[in-house]
Amino acid sequence: MAYYIGIDLGTSSVKLIIMSADGTIVKSTSKEYPIYFPGEGMSEQNPDDWYNAVISGIGELTDGIDKKEIKGISFGGQMHGLVMLDKYDRVIRPAILWNDGRTQKQCDHLNGTVGMDKLTEYTANIAFPGFTAPKILWLKENEPENFARINKIMLPKDYITYKLTGVHSTDMSDASGTLLFDVKNRCWSSEMLEICGIDERVMPALHESSSVTGTLAPHIADKLCLGRDTRIIAGAGDNAAAAIGTGTVKDGSCNISLGTSGTIFISCDSFFGGSGSALHSFAHANGRYHLMGCILSAASCNKWWQEDILGKTDLAAAQKNIKALGDNSVFFLPYLMGERSPHNDPFARSAFIGMSMSTTADNMLQAVMEGVAFAIRDCMEAANAMGIEVKRSSICGGGAKSPLWCRIMANVLNIPLCTLENEEGPAFGAAMLAAVGCGEFKDTSEAAEKLVKERLTYYPDKETAEKYNNGYLRFKKLYPTLKDWFRAN
Ligand code: XUL
Repeated sequence: MAYYIGIDLGTSSVKLIIMSADGTIVKSTSKEYPIYFPGEGMSEQNPDDWYNAVISGIGELTDGIDKKEIKGISFGGQMHGLVMLDKYDRVIRPAILWNDGRTQKQCDHLNGTVGMDKLTEYTANIAFPGFTAPKILWLKENEPENFARINKIMLPKDYITYKLTGVHSTDMSDASGTLLFDVKNRCWSSEMLEICGIDERVMPALHESSSVTGTLAPHIADKLCLGRDTRIIAGAGDNAAAAIGTGTVKDGSCNISLGTSGTIFISCDSFFGGSGSALHSFAHANGRYHLMGCILSAASCNKWWQEDILGKTDLAAAQKNIKALGDNSVFFLPYLMGERSPHNDPFARSAFIGMSMSTTADNMLQAVMEGVAFAIRDCMEAANAMGIEVKRSSICGGGAKSPLWCRIMANVLNIPLCTLENEEGPAFGAAMLAAVGCGEFKDTSEAAEKLVKERLTYYPDKETAEKYNNGYLRFKKLYPTLKDWFRAN
């Protein structure tokens, strides 16, 4: 039976799976790499750390597998990262990541001077500090010698494709997060390229997510002991890949991801422009569109609190004493890296509030998980305000492995949430895109219908959902109260 490799190039690690044509995950592995915070609110990674992790991951993954049956490889990748190559295709400097907040000045210029209306007309979106275009302007202003060396710009997963095939390419869903892409017409925006002082020649070739971009370069195929005809399929931004992996392909269907970031992803058959600062309007990996709200810190809040601050390693064990939901008087703002949706504020920071002498460590941990859920609800409210009613959703990502967090989420959002048999949303979606690209399925809808299986549904409980609704109304008041304080500090 044919095999397909799905690679999720995440922020804390790369996750790799081999899926057989019937959707069984035959083997999986993951490799971590460092993330650097070179200044307040900045985050960077070395593209060659990603590449080395992918190469050693593929080696481990394919060990003991019938390699000639591996037909295709595809990706889901952390979005928006600015990867810059010089004329010899060497990395110019570390990539500036999706959760980096250094570009407020450039965003003010884009949203203010160029204007949100123009940006929306050119790209369907406005500027957020994590998006690629403001980072290019930052580089031009702060590192002109590096800017002058740029010969190619690409997104994180596309650097891996380039190293594996020698081809400079990207896909429409990931291109959407650059703010250099005309989402409606699925092409680079000449206006935005001009604003950023970038020639279109510098941009990678655009593909739909299930298109073949090339085959493994012979020296890489030989090194990995894979066939030289192994196809590389464009893949997608990690959220669009997760949407494929969770079967979020029908108009109006929704997926929630609790990874390093937290997102709500609403699949749309038609283009939905002008959502302003609330939600992103992007291309989907199924050839259509989606709306997305993104909070910058989700499962990472739990990891930060438990591992970095409390020094715990068993995150699941720490949650086992939390039983009563909806009565917590402690609140947590999850803005460890500033916030994207809906506040668009890189200066926002985290806070605990509401503690007393009777507050326990469990209350604080619960507040962290609830704070993330409330922030996701902020995104859901933004969708509701646009007339979109989400009646149920799938949920995936590291945070969704916690039954407690799924219960909290279902009650805070007051909708049923279902987990999937295959939890690795983006990696599974990437393997599905590889299978579609190799002709195993007609399209992503057929692949989703045949391969995605629901596991467990978490239903809200009326009384708990009501308590959480009151909690959310209290949570909602915190950011506006603290906004000026964050900015002044
Ligand atoms: C989406 C976003 C994040 C990253 C995380 O806009 O910035 O979800 O893709 O990997």
